[in-house]
Amino acid sequence: MRLPACLLLLVGVLPGQEPTIDFVRDVAPVLQERCVSCHGADKQKGDLRLDGRAHALPEESGSIVAGDLEASEFVRRIELPDGDDERMPEEGPSLTAEQIAALKKWIQQGANWPAEGDAWFAAERKKREIPKIDFGIAPLDSSTQARIDAAVAALRLKGVLCLPVASDTPALDVNASLLGAAFGDSDLEQVAQLGPALVWLNLARTSVTDEGIARLQSMPELRRLSLANTAIGDRGIAALGVPSKLESLNLYGSKVTDRGLVQLEVWPALVKVFAFSTAVTEAAANAIVARKPSMAVDRGEYAAQRMAAAEREVAERRRRETPANDTCFVNGEKPSVEHFVDLDNLRIAFCCGKCKKKYEDDPAAYAAKVEALRQKRAAEEASRQQAEVPAGKSGQLP
Ligand code: HEC
Repeated sequence: MRLPACLLLLVGVLPGQEPTIDFVRDVAPVLQERCVSCHGADKQKGDLRLDGRAHALPEESGSIVAGDLEASEFVRRIELPDGDDERMPEEGPSLTAEQIAALKKWIQQGANWPAEGDAWFAAERKKREIPKIDFGIAPLDSSTQARIDAAVAALRLKGVLCLPVASDTPALDVNASLLGAAFGDSDLEQVAQLGPALVWLNLARTSVTDEGIARLQSMPELRRLSLANTAIGDRGIAALGVPSKLESLNLYGSKVTDRGLVQLEVWPALVKVFAFSTAVTEAAANAIVARKPSMAVDRGEYAAQRMAAAEREVAERRRRETPANDTCFVNGEKPSVEHFVDLDNLRIAFCCGKCKKKYEDDPAAYAAKVEALRQKRAAEEASRQQAEVPAGKSGQLP
């Protein structure tokens, strides 16, 4: 039989009975946040580990004695005053009164440490793991490495950014985009030498061409390639062959069309193509994604929408910040941008501080003028929205 939820709640707080401590909710996060850095998988200060049941609650003589606060070294340590050498945590402020109360109650109630508790800590450890980014590239033999080092030196001399992806891998990140048009086809000769180590390559804005890019045919380790804002078109895509590990391809602003896009279907690892500001059509993008669901083609619809929203917001703000009146309310002079009042969404400007003060002393005297401006604004707004509607609608047509 299932008890109604309200009854279950009552069971936990019957008069004279302590609310039940939930290990995962009340205890584990405190241990994780304040103790595990010194008493966890990496360090076990004082031979104590607090991120797993078997460690924290050993068969005999642990610092936590279930049901016995007096005998628990754990409790003595967390209750010591600030400044005591033995106070835990050893660093930072003491635990809060609520945290200490929860930990004590938990021990009093039998120090229950369910399997979900161990799973919770395992998940936390996993979250904190730094993924090793070696791309599975084994150390290279000395002649290959020497060839790569020479090419890297030559590229760096030209101003190309060549960086190891991490300290423990030969994998390389090469960025020629800062050189712009000064980097061209002949420079790709050296890039081609990097094949066994090159994982990320940025050729955005360079002057590479469909002919030149053939030098980079089927780069075996390449994961990410940017050809954004280059003259690369469909023939250039064909010239790249089938880069077997390439995951991300940026064609933003390139000359690639639907004919180039269909070739990407056979690139086995490709999951993301950026194709905004290209001739790639929505129909072709949808068709290839239908055949290859692991792949996404970003044609920038969202980017365009975000841009339009931002433009509207800017226009709106500008309207709000432009005085609604052409002449100073008080003396009819030209208003100054420096003296104004904002009446929700309506800015009223004055020619000088004095006039502004006059207005502020008796706003009711100007209420009719304000109302007239409000109506004028509303009329402008209405006609502007009418002008926008057809454009918005036509934008949705294929
Ligand atoms: C910055 C590191 C650090 C943090 C954080 C820390 N400890 Fe410690 N802990 C130590 C060191 C070092 C020792 C061994 C020296 C000592 O016994 O004081 C120790 C010892 C202990 C001991 C005694 C072990 C034994 O069996 O004698 C207990 C219990 C303890 N810590 C509990 C905690 C608890 C509970 C927390 C979190 C609330 C915590 N510690 C956080 C560094 C730390």
